[in-house]
Amino acid sequence: MEVLANVTLCHPRPSSGQDTSQAILVNSQVPRNLSANCVVVRVDRFGYSANNVTYQALGEIPHFRYFDFHAAPESEGVSPKTHGVSPVWGFGTIIASTHAAIRVGERVYGYFAATRYLVLPISPTDISKYAFFVSRPHLPADRRPYNQVTRCSSDALYDPSPEVEDLTMLYRPLFWTSFWCEDWINSSQYRGGATRVLISSASAKTAFCLAYLIRKRNATPGNTNSTMQVVGLTSKKNLDFTKRLRLYDHVLVYEDFDTTSIMNAPSQKWLYIDVAGNEALNGKIINHFTSNAKLNLVGSIALGLTNLSPSSGSPSASNWSTNDFSSHRAPSTLEQFFMPEWLAVRKKQLSVTEITQLQKDAWFALMRDCRTWNVTLCRVYGANSVKSAYDEVVRSGIPPDQGFIWSMWEDERENERARL
Ligand SMILES: NC(=O)c1ccc[n+]([C@@H]2O[C@H](COP(=O)([O-])OP(=O)(O)OC[C@H]3O[C@@H](n4cnc5c(N)ncnc54)[C@H](OP(=O)(O)O)[C@@H]3O)[C@@H](O)[C@H]2O)c1
Repeated sequence: MEVLANVTLCHPRPSSGQDTSQAILVNSQVPRNLSANCVVVRVDRFGYSANNVTYQALGEIPHFRYFDFHAAPESEGVSPKTHGVSPVWGFGTIIASTHAAIRVGERVYGYFAATRYLVLPISPTDISKYAFFVSRPHLPADRRPYNQVTRCSSDALYDPSPEVEDLTMLYRPLFWTSFWCEDWINSSQYRGGATRVLISSASAKTAFCLAYLIRKRNATPGNTNSTMQVVGLTSKKNLDFTKRLRLYDHVLVYEDFDTTSIMNAPSQKWLYIDVAGNEALNGKIINHFTSNAKLNLVGSIALGLTNLSPSSGSPSASNWSTNDFSSHRAPSTLEQFFMPEWLAVRKKQLSVTEITQLQKDAWFALMRDCRTWNVTLCRVYGANSVKSAYDEVVRSGIPPDQGFIWSMWEDERENERARL
């Protein structure tokens, strides 16, 4: 194989004592000789959202170990000891393979990195026409979903149009969390009849996809609950965006959180779903409900951590519980949604065909409906521009109206040429 020049966005590890928000671009070379059962993925484009900030912020936390999925290159004074690489969900093409069942030219989707090329060791036996799996014996078995590389040619949800690929990178990592969380809540009849659902970080995609699914369930004949209302809670700067989504019945801002103005029927049961992961906010919300005798909070669930930022440093490892991997659980008294556990229950209740059909229906509806939401796809090409875009995220957070699609390549023509 010819020598391939690589460039990777790397983050200082908190344990290195460096400023974790100072990302750097590291040049390296892809090794000429591949070991047996390895592939080289040319990473074309990837999505970037608060979810990726969470991966970085929890990169070194022993229970999550997001920095242990892809090693930082040993180059230009950087090593896996000093730096981490944050995972991203993206599309790529296999450009070299020493695995007998994986051919060069295959289009794939997976848990990749902000880099041009990724060398991945692949399990020789754990492979089907739908997917193959990266060998990561150093990580616990429950990381399996992150090791899966989806083969686009057999993926029922795949659409090769660049716009749908972009939407897929943006929504697929989040939508299934929202989808199965709503399914889980519904299995308890919304915790015994909640008719008000309050969602924090309401402008985040995970949050508004959940609102979308709640409304959708409510619009299904036979499920209609005319008293159900979904209430979003967001920051002042994202208030207009959140209202314009038209997915919430009411939108409140953090600073003046108070349900009095919308408490038009005091006997309603409330369910709180936290996507912000802000302990102070949660304290305020729980206090609001428990100190008002007219309010009835029937459940509170932790789903996200948008309030983490690369520059906020890693939270103390001892604050995190030991079985909270998939839900990015914050230390709190909130109930945790643990997707693998819930999926294991559903796999006993439903056939594979039924689950596949449920997911297909939900996904194609999302691909149709998400185009009406005011999220503009925003592509950034080139390693330097990606780094600048990342630096802007560190400075200002993630704007909800922009769906970031980043590529370490200079333009889409380079990607298209490589695909051809
Ligand atoms: N449980 C799981 O397995 C799972 C799966 C997927 C995602 N998640 C989590 O869900 C959360 C949302 O992810 P997403 O990708 O959907 O988010 P997103 O669409 O990128 O969210 C953007 C929103 O996050 C808030 N935000 C952004 N930067 C911030 C900052 N620096 N400080 C405070 N708030 C900031 C703002 O919302 P507001 O102004 O409305 O607060 C912003 O509109 C993430 O924490 C992610 O890890 C969990």
